[in-house]
Parts: sequence; C-alpha cells; structure tokens
Amino acid sequence: MEELIPIASKLQDVLGALGQSTNLDLPQIVVIGGQSSGKSSVLESVVGRSFLPRGTGIVTRRPLVLQLFNTSGDGPFGNDGGGGGNNNSGEEYGGYNDNGDDRKQEHYNESNDNNGSSEQAEWGEFLHKPGKRYYDFAQIRAEIVRDTDRLAGTGALSKGVSANPIHLKIYSPKVLSLTMVDLPGLTKVAIKGQPEDIADQILQINVQYGSNPNAILLAVTGANTDLASSDALRLARELDPRGDRTIGVLTKLDLMDPGTDVGEIMHNRVIPLRRGYIAVVNRGQRDIDADLSIQVGLRNEERYFRTHPVYSRDRSISGKCGTMNLARNLNGILIHHIRDCLPELKIRIANMMGDVQSELDALGMPDGGPRDPGQMGGKLLGLLSKFSANFAAMIDGRASNT
Ligand code: GDP
Ligand code: NA
Ligand code: MG
Repeated sequence: MEELIPIASKLQDVLGALGQSTNLDLPQIVVIGGQSSGKSSVLESVVGRSFLPRGTGIVTRRPLVLQLFNTSGDGPFGNDGGGGGNNNSGEEYGGYNDNGDDRKQEHYNESNDNNGSSEQAEWGEFLHKPGKRYYDFAQIRAEIVRDTDRLAGTGALSKGVSANPIHLKIYSPKVLSLTMVDLPGLTKVAIKGQPEDIADQILQINVQYGSNPNAILLAVTGANTDLASSDALRLARELDPRGDRTIGVLTKLDLMDPGTDVGEIMHNRVIPLRRGYIAVVNRGQRDIDADLSIQVGLRNEERYFRTHPVYSRDRSISGKCGTMNLARNLNGILIHHIRDCLPELKIRIANMMGDVQSELDALGMPDGGPRDPGQMGGKLLGLLSKFSANFAAMIDGRASNT
C-alpha cells in the first residue's frame, strides 16, 4: 500500500480543499470465505497491524467496517486526517513527535508490532466510543471482542452473529485511506448454541457487503481444503459473475500435505479467475498463541516462498506469492481506479469555479479580494492538472517497465 499513499493523499488533499467529499470513493475491500479460512488474518497482514480477533471456530461474529485514514499530511493543503480541526499548513503533523505529550509514550508501550520505523502515533477510534483514542492495538482487539459479545451474545450464546456492524477508524501515516470490511465466515451447519438459521444469517451478511459494485472481493480459501468446494469462490461467482472485482486468495499453504502444492491453481488452470490468485502464509494458531508479531510473520512468509522448491522456481507464480504481492495487486487496482476518476474530478472543480464566479458576480464582489474563492479554485485546478500529468507519467512509466 505504501507506494500509493503519497499519491492518494495528495489527491485527497485537493478534494478536501474543495470542501466537498474528502474521499476518492476508493473501492472497499471485502473479505469473503468459509469460517476459519484466514480472512481476518489476511486483512490484518494487508493493514500491517495486529488488531483483529482471530482463531479457530467462529470468532468474527459481526461485520467490521474498518476505515483507514492516512495522516502523513505532506500535501500542499495539509491533511486533516479526520481528527478534527483544520490543519492548513501540515506543520501540526510534522511537529507531532516533538509535542512531548504522553500519546507518544503510549505508542511505545503498545503491542509488539511496533517495528520502530515510525515515531508517529497511530490510533483507532470506534463509532460506539466517540472521542476515545486507542493507541494500544491489543486494546482495540479487546474492544472488538467486548462489543461483539454485547450484541452477538456471550457465554452460552457466544456462537451467535449479528448483522449490526462495528465501525472502527484507524489513523496512521502508514496506511492508504480506504475502507476494508471483515465478515463472519460462511458455514453450513449450526453447531450447539447457534440458531438453526445461522448459515443463512451469515450468508445474508456476506451478500449485503459483497454485492456492493464498488467492493473488491478477496475470496479466501484455505489451500489445505478442496478448491472445488470453496464457499468463497461459490459466493464470489454469484456476486460478481464476470469476475471483474474478485481476487482469489489462497491461505495455509504451509498446512498442505507434503508433496502437494497450488501450482496448477496459481496457473489459473483449475478454477480460472479473471484476476487470478494470490497465495499467502499467515500466522498459524500457535503463532497467535505465542503473540508472534506481524513483522515476524511476514518475514516467515517471505522465507517460506523464497525457499519453496516449486514456488521459488516458477517465475510466473513467484510474483503472485506473499502478502506483499497481494498488497501490490490491490495497489494496481486502486491506481487504475484513481486514474479513471481524474477526468470527472477536473469537471467537478471547473464547475465549482464557475458557480463561485457567478455567485461573486451576482453579489457585485470584486475579484481578487481576500480569500477569493475563484482564485482558490483556479489554484486547485492547476494543481490537479499538474497532478494528473505526473500521475499519467507514473502509470506510463510503470506500464513500460513491465
Ligand atoms: P477467519 O475465520 O476466516 O477470519 O480466519 P482467521 O484469520 O481467524 O484464522 C483462523 C485460524 O487459521 C487461526 O488459527 C489462524 O492462525 C489460522 N490461519 C490463518 N491463515 C493461516 C495460514 O496461512 N497458515 C496457518 N498455518 N494458519 C493460518
Ligand atoms: Na475463525
Ligand atoms: Mg475472522
């Protein structure tokens, strides 16, 4: 995600300065698949932080709508990271580390995922806990568990689900401003303590989020299960018959029978997907119990693929292996989406300038007065044109590299 951050946040700055919508309407990323296939684990790896409840059995029992906000604030108009207040200079964030307040300290005390590469604070905020900032990602997880229990049942009823979503915002200089959705996994039979129609309830929740035409579906299947019976692929095919917005994600390669591999699937010869498959190795249950950090997990994954006798040797596969490649794949989709949005953005800004100018004319106001909005619009348009040109050059450069 990292390479897209400066691009998207600059563009979001421009949009924010328009005072209209501060988001690019980037596609939502929605994980679907069978229970315990590794959906929450995949989502966490893409975000790069440990904060989701994971485990065997039914753990994710309510939709989690996760909005990420980039706070790097290096754009020409600053980036108000949604945290309130108007930050026009961008200096607020630049000077954040020197504030010497206890937020920084709390950041250092947080979970073992702090890789030391950034001293800027990252925090989460729940819609149901307005104004409370969580700097400790382990506490974010605890609050997800607590609020899941509150609505979806606890004790003897702790296997129930609720369609009522948890809304969590994460502010960080290291994320791309977009929305990801984690969902309860598809099941077939009700277990003890679950209502008879649990499978249908979960299916309805998945359909609700997955049918959004603006959603990219990460269809997650454990590589240690039969692809032909994959719940993820079956549902993805229903929700996205053309396969335009489905990425197949294979997890648990490390748990496959010795001597077997996903080579044929990765070559798209088994159940072909338009966008193909990405294979990953997440932290296993033992890693979770040992509180293994996400960075160590990613390093283990990298070594797994680098040393694997099949995946490391087949070049057409190795580029589709690992969480980094999944993130790269998502980046590519988002970049194309941004490019498709640019012409419409230009029209929007031009229209806004026209409106402002006619308002000024009607009021008989002279141009060039203090904070002249017409002038502001002109600056924005110039900025966006420059941005588009750079962006186009970047995409072309990328295209000619490959
Ligand atoms: P979800 O129910 O689909 O959200 O799945 P989770 O992310 O909660 O993972 C379910 C269980 O599978 C957990 O115990 C994970 O540690 C384990 N798991 C997920 N992905 C992998 C993987 O790639 N390899 C191994 N060994 N375990 C995994
Ligand atoms: Na699970
Ligand atoms: Mg889950």
